[in-house]
Amino acid sequence: DVPVNVVVAVDGTSGSGKSSTCRAVAVRLGLRYLDTGAQYRAVTWWMLHHGVDVHDPAAVAARAAEPVLASGTDPLAPTITVDGRDVSVEIRSDEVNGAVSPVSAVPEVRARLVDLQREIIAPAAGPRGGIVVEGRDIGSVVWPQADLKVYLTADPAARAARRALENGGADVTATRESLLARDRIDSGRAVAPLTMADGAVHVDSTELTLDEVVDVVVGLVARRGQGA
Ligand code: DC
Repeated sequence: DVPVNVVVAVDGTSGSGKSSTCRAVAVRLGLRYLDTGAQYRAVTWWMLHHGVDVHDPAAVAARAAEPVLASGTDPLAPTITVDGRDVSVEIRSDEVNGAVSPVSAVPEVRARLVDLQREIIAPAAGPRGGIVVEGRDIGSVVWPQADLKVYLTADPAARAARRALENGGADVTATRESLLARDRIDSGRAVAPLTMADGAVHVDSTELTLDEVVDVVVGLVARRGQGA
């Protein structure tokens, strides 16, 4: 049996299947779910909406304290609001895709969101507080004490094909370039770059169906619960 207060950290590249996997694992195990990428996207949307130059780190840093974020952690219906406005749809736009990596490289943005993420994860110490958290730096920076850390990857071709399908048949080549551009910035930035955390288990989803990946992660959580 899985302890009710388990914290599962899932990091990995864009389009590796993190969101679908994490939501399904949380549903199967009765845990909460937090999409930290949605938080970086919501801050990015706010910056664009307020006319901030997202390629000017000083301009982004100067306003990083202003957007008020709230994340709903039900894996069946996750929500994200900024200043009370639901931005679930807006944060998936091409405009946000193109601006989120530079915004999330700004240390003031990261410091603020890491604090918020820790506040959300912390109730896991209480009854029925367990949570599955997805991002780039959850196992390395946000919650290194996670009970299980997974590093989820897939070949670029597989990731682009899945993401293009999700986006209603978008161009696979353009989607691939956009994913790889984000990976380059996310892995190369100075603060909290995407990296495999100490103690993480590498899962490559290239040849696996979603159900198979979910089975692998649920199996890993169950074994950790037994002290493995
Ligand atoms: O998981 P995603 O594609 O929605 O994430 C969008 C961007 O947010 C990604 O390009 C990098 C950034 N991100 C981050 O820097 N740290 C996290 N913990 C999660 C996302």
